[in-house]
This record gives sequence, structure tokens and C-alpha cells, in this order.
Amino acid sequence: MRHLHAHRNPKPAQQRILPYACLLSLLAFTGCQARALNPAGPAASAIASLWWVMFITSTLVFIVVMVALALALRRRDVGDRGRGLSRSLVTYGGAIVPGIIVVGLMIYNTYITVQLEEPPDTPVTTVRAMAHQFWWDFEYVDYGFRTANEIHIPAGQSVMVQLASDDVIHAFWVPQLHGKRDMTPDHVGQIWLQADEPGTYQGLCAEFCGMQHAKMQFLVIAHEPEDYQAWLEQHQVIPPVPEDPRVFRGQQIFLGSECVYCHTVRGTNATGTLGPDLTNLASRRDLGAGTLPNTRGHLAGWIIDSQQFKPGNLMPPSPMDGQDLLDMLIYLESLR
Ligand code: CUA
Repeated sequence: MRHLHAHRNPKPAQQRILPYACLLSLLAFTGCQARALNPAGPAASAIASLWWVMFITSTLVFIVVMVALALALRRRDVGDRGRGLSRSLVTYGGAIVPGIIVVGLMIYNTYITVQLEEPPDTPVTTVRAMAHQFWWDFEYVDYGFRTANEIHIPAGQSVMVQLASDDVIHAFWVPQLHGKRDMTPDHVGQIWLQADEPGTYQGLCAEFCGMQHAKMQFLVIAHEPEDYQAWLEQHQVIPPVPEDPRVFRGQQIFLGSECVYCHTVRGTNATGTLGPDLTNLASRRDLGAGTLPNTRGHLAGWIIDSQQFKPGNLMPPSPMDGQDLLDMLIYLESLR
């Protein structure tokens, strides 16, 4: 008997919890969407206003329909006059008014979509974005260098980003700056990024692309135009041969390792393209496309065995002697 009771009892508790669970999931949902509804550029602002217009309209329609339903349930016998009213309600409320609302929303939606296909401003440069499982390669075609997992742009000016994929379908999404855009292997798409103010905006892959889809993030960093120019200049510099003997030793260890088959450091014989370009590695905020902060400890762990942090990524473990690893880290930290 006790056993049976134990099975019966939890039900009321579950029922009591249900409304709170619904509320919590709703809150989680709004948290998820908050960035898209907190626009920081012209394209995201247009998308956010479309969202608000649709949300407010559908909320009003829902309230009106629910009130009409409540009234209909309360009044049983409506009489002849009531039947006439019901018929015109069906005509107006069921066909004409919804038709006007749907067509109105469609026109507004088309207007916004057309607007999003136009650059907000003459693009100042082009960034060629290539999605990989599970990281981003960004090539500044006008300046001859690449970055990984970070796009830098001047605030208040637009940058054209060409979108393609090296393997499966990914999607490029910076919620505060623009809508989602697919990146496919057989087509080059494009999008314009423009931020109103300097700041760091989170970007992510928005199409399930494999085991580490969730750890396929990037940053869009908007600078004041003069800081952006300085950033461009810094990134065009080819790192000189290290003068410090320890840094030099670190470089020799790096160049003698298997790292060079997959990574590039401009000005050296490391010219691999399977993994991120490391020429300015030390200037980046994160490692592994948003997996870890870029610190010496995390970088060491990442080199030794990145599979611990991001299982399924393409980088194999590289067990190393402690001193060699330390010198190599010092070299990599010099790549700013
Ligand atoms: Cu790339 Cu999901």
C-alpha cells in the first residue's frame, strides 16, 4: 500500500510546479532573445521594430478573440438580432479585418526585407568570412591579412561580409547587428555589418553544424574610426624575427612542430590553412571560437589537448616537454 501511495502523491506537486516551470521557461526564452531586441545597428533596429509590430499586433488580436470567445460562451440564446450580428462578425472579424491585418503585415515585412538587402552606407571594406567546423576565418581582402573568430569594424560605418562555408551549412548571426544568414559550401552570400557605437558584439553559428556547434562563436568589435585604422595597420605588419633569445627559441620550436601544417604565421614557413591564422593570436580575446579566455594557462592546455575543452574539433593533442611548451607560449604571446 505504501508503495502505491508513493506513486500517487507526486502528481499534485507536479501540477503546482507546472505554472512556475512555464513562467521560468518563458523567462529563459526572453533572455535568449534579449540581444536581438537590444539592437546596436541599423539592420538589427529594423528587424527589432518588425518583431515589435508583429508581437503587439498578434497580442491585440489574441485579446480581442479571447474576449469575443468569452462573450460567445456566456450568451446562449442570441435571438434574431444576435444572429444577424453573428453573421456580420464572421464576415468582418473572420475575413475582412484579418485580411487587412495579414496584408498590412506582409507589406511591412517586405519593406523591411528589401531595406535589409541594401547597405546602410557605402561599405568601407570587404571581409571574406569562411565558416569551418567549428571556427571562423575572416580575411580582410583589401589589406592582405586574416583573423580568426574576431571581426573588427569602424563604428558608424558599414563593412561588407561575404559569407561562405568550407564544409557543412553554418549560419552567421550577430543578434545586435543583423539577422541570421546561412553560409553554404556552394554559394557566396553577403551581409552588411554596421554598429552605431564602439563596443563588442557577440556573434554565433545559428545552424546546427555538428558536435561543437555551440562552441562556434565569434566577436564583432566596433572601434572609433581612428582606433580601427590603428588596428588595420597593426595587423598588416609581418612579425619580425624575434630578437629575444627565448622568444626566438620558442619560434624555432613552433616552426619545428606539427603546428605549421595547419596554422599560418605570416613571414615564417608556417603556412597551413586548416586551422586559424595565428599571426596576431595574442591580440585575440578568446581561444577555440569562444571556448576559453586567451590566457597563458588556457593556451597551454589547448595546445597539449584541446579535445579536453572542445571534443571533436580538428586539432590533435600535442604532448610537449615543459620547457619547450613554455618557450613556445612566450613566442605565441609575442604575436600581437
Ligand atoms: Cu557552425 Cu553551427
